[in-house]
Amino acid sequence: MGLGRGLAIGTLAVGLLVTSETPALAGNGPAYKDSWRPVKVRVADLLGRMSLDDKLGQMMQAERLGVKSPADVTTGRLGSLLSGGSSQPTPNTPVTWADMYDGFQKAALATPLGIPLVYGVDAVHGHNGVYGATVFPHNIGLGASRDPRLVQKIGRATAEEVSGTGIDWDFAPCLCVARNDRWGRTYESFGEVPQLATEMSTVITGLQGTRLDQPGSVMATAKHYVGDGGTTGGVNEGNTEISEQELRAVHLPPFKAAVDRGVGSVMISYSSWNGVKMHAGSYLINDVLKKELGFKGIVVSDYNGVDKIDGKTGFTPEEVEASINAGIDMVMVPYNWQTFIDTLRTLVQQGRVPLSRIDDANRRILTKKFELGLFEHPLTDRRFLKTIGSKDHRDLALQAVRESQVLLKNDHHVLPLLKHGKIFVAGKNADDMGNQSGGWTVGWQGTSGPVIPGTTILQGIRSSSSKVTYAKDGTGIDQSYDVAVAVVGETPYAETKGDRPQGMGLDDTDLATLQKLKDSGVPTVVVLVSGRPLDIAAQVGDWAGLVESWLPGSEGAGVADVLFGDYNPTGKLPVTWMRSAGQQPINVGDGRPALFPFGYGLHYSRHW
Ligand code: GLC
Repeated sequence: MGLGRGLAIGTLAVGLLVTSETPALAGNGPAYKDSWRPVKVRVADLLGRMSLDDKLGQMMQAERLGVKSPADVTTGRLGSLLSGGSSQPTPNTPVTWADMYDGFQKAALATPLGIPLVYGVDAVHGHNGVYGATVFPHNIGLGASRDPRLVQKIGRATAEEVSGTGIDWDFAPCLCVARNDRWGRTYESFGEVPQLATEMSTVITGLQGTRLDQPGSVMATAKHYVGDGGTTGGVNEGNTEISEQELRAVHLPPFKAAVDRGVGSVMISYSSWNGVKMHAGSYLINDVLKKELGFKGIVVSDYNGVDKIDGKTGFTPEEVEASINAGIDMVMVPYNWQTFIDTLRTLVQQGRVPLSRIDDANRRILTKKFELGLFEHPLTDRRFLKTIGSKDHRDLALQAVRESQVLLKNDHHVLPLLKHGKIFVAGKNADDMGNQSGGWTVGWQGTSGPVIPGTTILQGIRSSSSKVTYAKDGTGIDQSYDVAVAVVGETPYAETKGDRPQGMGLDDTDLATLQKLKDSGVPTVVVLVSGRPLDIAAQVGDWAGLVESWLPGSEGAGVADVLFGDYNPTGKLPVTWMRSAGQQPINVGDGRPALFPFGYGLHYSRHW
């Protein structure tokens, strides 16, 4: 056997024996930079080269607006950045996003060890922070579709658009189980039962692909752990006062499903469980999530989540100690990241936070960065720029809109509409992209108006019929019309601003419009654009037809497809529809009389 071959076999044999305990062999450079080595080996080698400040920096996720320049990323040795809901580059275009990402990434690579950063955004219904991206229906509408395969495809499409801007971490999906529709984040939930969020966790597989380092994959985030949708009174960031048995039965299963799917990160909820802030919840994070469920990825705090532990502004050493020891690996500390690093360094030096905890957090963070392939491909894969807002993705969104519509009332077969009929359209949500997209749309809170390109519901109706008259407030309706369509409901909101502690009815604008239509005597079909059921029991009797449209996003034509019967509605309620706001919380199995029960949804009989 020639020496060369023998040497080759020898090297191969040694190579095969390489384990996470094997010290890095002499090579051209540091072992962690060798892409052929097992991730565990690369992590061990890199960790062994890191100073305490390297490690502390890796655990920080700053808001991009919280760094004065990319140079701060280098000096702070920051492990991550994020764009919060309203933190978009100017101008807001896919290319400026990609250039921004690459600028920050090059700064991270300029650190002594050249550890790439990971960058997070809330792409919660498409890459919704980017102008021109495809905006899919919010989760509650996807829950109504009952179509996990569709949701997986949406995850993939979203991941491709996110990848086209360089971003590699998506703070989605929300796997919350919305038990009280007063909650301002009900629309971010797939529904009121754990089975829906569990079934729709397919979105994680869409986002992450079969490998995190495959082109177009991004790291997903199961959020918000745990029980955010179960707070008393549906108060956002409130207190979930239930037994451990109920927490495990209702709110935990979607997170188990996410962990079983290999979700890369889990975000901690602002809420409390029986008075204990989740951000200081060692039992549920360390013992249940990491040990019992075997979660090996990154536990990330919510935005300033550590600050909120004591309910006062800013974070204290005690809050930092509690949150890191509770198992939080990466801290979303938008602006005061240097103070956090300094505080945590002192806590480590005092022995209040063990170095082993810091090392565990870094192993988790570095493991994901290696798995994402960031050391080999740190910059934007601009091949995916062309997927942003592409026809394929918009067609997928259109199908999602169709499948999410829920037909709740159809007296005398008023639906489907006749394309040759004389149709009067009214309502503040008929021709408003912002209202039909809801919160988290090119801005945290979303906003009314032409905020994104796409098709409004009215535009969809007009493309199906030439005899359409539109008046937002219903002025001009008369007996000459065969049918009136009133597109009404909510205006955009996000998080606490969406809480409804008082009434949950239609607003005065909508009530006035509906009254005009009622007074005309023309049969009225109501299309409700909302992030949750509304209290409509007093009005629904006046309506000939009712479709719950949820928050359909950029492809409003999908609503018209259902109205005209080009798609026979298949949607089913993912939440129980109250008879009155006073019934909240009301959920399937309560045994109480609903206006429309969980799972309810009509379709058109064959002979229309
Ligand atoms: C927000 C939300 C969370 C989001 C994070 C970053 O406050 O609670 O869902 O991922 O901050 O924008």
